[in-house]
Amino acid sequence: MPLHRLSAVHVRVARYAEFCDFYRRFGLEEIASGRFASARGGQQLHVEPGDRNTVVEIVIGADAPSDLDAVEAGLQAAGHTPERPSSETLLVAEPTTGITIRVTVEPRVPAIRPRGGIPEVNRAELVGRARVRPQRLGHMVLGCPDVDAVNRFFTECLGMRISDEVIGAVFLRFDTDHHNLAFLRSDHTWLHHMAWKVGSVDEVGYGAMQLIDHDQSTNCYGLGRHAASANYFWYLRDPSGSLAEYYHSEFDDLVDDAEFWNPVPNQAPMPVASWGPSLPPTFFAPTGQLSAGATQPGEEGP
Ligand SMILES: [Fe+2]
Repeated sequence: MPLHRLSAVHVRVARYAEFCDFYRRFGLEEIASGRFASARGGQQLHVEPGDRNTVVEIVIGADAPSDLDAVEAGLQAAGHTPERPSSETLLVAEPTTGITIRVTVEPRVPAIRPRGGIPEVNRAELVGRARVRPQRLGHMVLGCPDVDAVNRFFTECLGMRISDEVIGAVFLRFDTDHHNLAFLRSDHTWLHHMAWKVGSVDEVGYGAMQLIDHDQSTNCYGLGRHAASANYFWYLRDPSGSLAEYYHSEFDDLVDDAEFWNPVPNQAPMPVASWGPSLPPTFFAPTGQLSAGATQPGEEGP
């Protein structure tokens, strides 16, 4: 698929200094003021101070300018008005959420293929570990007032594919990850979480503990394993009220996605997690979390 990854997120937050401090502790590298990089994905989080918490822009990576031509044609055919400030950049406002979608030509993040056979375990490594550094931004999950419309935008105009429609949400992917964007039904647009891939289940735990040891109140939900994606997860509450997820998957860099992530028709209701702690009642509560675009709680949607 020519659109190959969720490249970056641009947010504005009211508690800027605390938000940046959280993501430094989360393991992202601040390469410039408010600009954070993962270990392998480059700059993937851009933070600015603002009056309210807002998702401003989502950046999606494409292979070549010709891929942007195809996306532009698809958007125009669907009645949207994308801008092309250069051959390697396309901008369009997603109408349901109001979030700007920026599609840019940029390199893929090469998959890390695990060595075959039984994994080696170095117990010395399990004792004292350096700070966990997320490998890359994997996905975002947003609440939005019209899941069907936003689903059509990203599948029909941008060519994303549906991996699953479960637990009242639609899960969309570009490539081999189970999902890069997912949307939950809500009365307004808000960011539920950003998810950052780490190298192992151990790193999910180490990453979470390094934040929880610093501030117990960041702990939200983990360790567990999602049912739909089979990702191992741990969710931490960031200072905007949204969640930051460390996750690991044995599958997403490995599989031929066409054979693996096809949605199962008429599947039984699927729980959030195959195993893990009880789902905290605050897990899906949008209070105080990063909103986006024109709609706010209590306001009418577009
Ligand atoms: Fe997630």
